[in-house]
Amino acid sequence: MRLAGKTALITGAARGIGLAFARAYIAEGATVALADIDSEGIRTAAAALGPGAIAIEMDVTRQASIDAGFAVAIEKLGTLDILVNNAALFTAAPIAEIARADYERVFAVNVAGSLFCLQAAARHMIEHGRGGKIINMASQAGRRGEPLVAVYCATKAAVISLTQSAGLDLIRHGINVNAIAPGVVDGDHWDGVDAQFARLENRPLGEKKRLVESSVPIGRMASATDLTGMAIFLASSEADYIVAQTYGVDGGNWMA
Ligand SMILES: NC(=O)c1ccc[n+]([C@@H]2O[C@H](COP(=O)([O-])OP(=O)(O)OC[C@H]3O[C@@H](n4cnc5c(N)ncnc54)[C@H](O)[C@@H]3O)[C@@H](O)[C@H]2O)c1
Repeated sequence: MRLAGKTALITGAARGIGLAFARAYIAEGATVALADIDSEGIRTAAAALGPGAIAIEMDVTRQASIDAGFAVAIEKLGTLDILVNNAALFTAAPIAEIARADYERVFAVNVAGSLFCLQAAARHMIEHGRGGKIINMASQAGRRGEPLVAVYCATKAAVISLTQSAGLDLIRHGINVNAIAPGVVDGDHWDGVDAQFARLENRPLGEKKRLVESSVPIGRMASATDLTGMAIFLASSEADYIVAQTYGVDGGNWMA
C-alpha cells in the first residue's frame, strides 16, 4: 500500500497504459480520477475499478476543459497528490507529406496538453503546500528521431524537456516531476501505429508489429503492466529525491 491515502489524476485513462496505472494506483491504496476525452470509455473504466475511481470527462487541448476537470476532480477527491500526464496521440508521415493540421493536433494533446495539465496540478499543489508528484509519459521516440515519425518524436522530446524544466522549477515547492519513456507497448495504441505503417510502407497488417517485437532485446513487446512498477515508484515517497529524470522502461529497446 505504497500510495495509501493519496489522490491521483491520470489523463488518457480510459484504456491502455493510463487505465493500467489507475488500476495499479488503486491497488496501492490511492483514489484515482480517470480523465479522458472518451467520456463513455472512462465511465465504463471507472465503474469497473470500483469505489477508488471517479470518471472525469476532459479534453486536454481545451483550457476550459482542463480547468473544469481539475476543479471537479479536486472537489471529489478532496485534494490532489499525484498527476500522470498520459494522454497522447500518434501520427506518422514522411517529412514531405506532414500536414500542418496534423502537426497542430498532435502537439496540442502531447505537448500543450501535458504542460497545461501539469500547470493546473502544480498550482493546486503549491497552494496547498503539501508537495506532490507529477509523472509525464515520454517515449523512446523522444530520445531519437525516426524517419516517418518526426512529429510524434518531436512531441516526446518536448515532454522530456518539459520534465527537466518543470522538475527544476517545482522541486522548491516539494513537487517532483519525472517521466517514463516506454519502448513498444502492446495494445490499441500500437495497433494504430501498425495500421499507419502498413499504409506508409505497404505492408500487411501486423507485419510491422512483428518486426518491431523481434528486435526488442528482452524478446517481446511490453504490456501496460510492465510499466506500473515505475509509475508507482515515481508517485511514492521512495522517489522524494528524484528530480527532472526520464526513465526508460523498454526491455532494452532504446539502448539497442
Ligand atoms: N503504447 C506504446 O507503445 C507507447 C510507447 C511509448 C510511449 N507511450 C505513451 O504512453 C502513453 C499512453 O499510451 P497508450 O498506449 O495507453 O495510448 P492509447 O492510445 O491506448 O490511450 C491514449 C488515451 O488518451 C486519450 N486522449 C486522446 N486525446 C485526448 C484528449 N485531447 N484529452 C484527453 N484524453 C485524450 C484517448 O482517448 C485514450 O484513452 C502516451 O503518452 C503514449 O505516447 C506509449
